[in-house]
Amino acid sequence: MKIGIIGTGNMGKGLGQILVEKNYEIMFGSRDPVNVLKLANSFGPNVSGGTYADAVQFGDIIILAIPWSSVKESIEAAGDLNGKILIDCTNAVAPHLGGLLVGHTTSAAEKIAKWAEGAKVVKAFNSLGSENLAKLQFGTQNASTFICGDDLEAKSVVRRLGEEIGFDVVDAGPLTNARLIEPLAMLWIELAYKQGMGTDIAFKLLRRRKAK
Ligand SMILES: NC(=O)c1ccc[n+]([C@@H]2O[C@H](COP(=O)([O-])OP(=O)(O)OC[C@H]3O[C@@H](n4cnc5c(N)ncnc54)[C@H](OP(=O)(O)O)[C@@H]3O)[C@@H](O)[C@H]2O)c1
Repeated sequence: MKIGIIGTGNMGKGLGQILVEKNYEIMFGSRDPVNVLKLANSFGPNVSGGTYADAVQFGDIIILAIPWSSVKESIEAAGDLNGKILIDCTNAVAPHLGGLLVGHTTSAAEKIAKWAEGAKVVKAFNSLGSENLAKLQFGTQNASTFICGDDLEAKSVVRRLGEEIGFDVVDAGPLTNARLIEPLAMLWIELAYKQGMGTDIAFKLLRRRKAK
């Protein structure tokens, strides 16, 4: 499967790096058509660059890695997402890490599903800092990522992708459960940056027996 990545920041590049190492063909989508080509070249032969719309056309799976303030306009610029698996790793974080701007009765993921008409949105990979993406193993355990979505096939694709990246993937149910997953990211931010634990932390679901 080909992967288009919208946004070339911490998450976009971090996930891109791992996916290239796993031999996926990827295209970075960017607002900057010149720099994105340089970036793609620096990642190697399986990587190309273009606009957000180019990345969407290219990918079977699209990763949305955009600051919340620009998510809606970026989706508009990305064009037709109908039928695409859209991995939403965003968090609607207020300026100065001041809490979540969306929650309780909806979620960033649900808003994105409305804006990205026809896309199969799966929330994933949002609840730990990007610096951990390349080192998801903590001792003998791998960091959990909680995923949710309404399209079961899309969710199983994202589950496999997450496992390849190195996550312990936990299926948390339908997309409305992003209302529960997104605050977890805010907890990670609080612990890492405000409670002084640093970024070398991750959540783990403990199980007494093998769960689904
Ligand atoms: N950083 C983390 O540790 C982390 C962890 C989990 C989840 N997240 C979430 O993942 C999303 C992306 O985070 P990030 O840390 O990768 O963000 P980032 O480093 O700020 O980069 C995001 C990318 O989005 C694009 N973009 C589009 N409109 C933009 C604008 N108005 N201002 C700045 N960039 C804009 C840019 O790519 P182009 O210039 O190439 O278009 C930029 O490189 C956010 O929603 C964040 O909450 C982040």
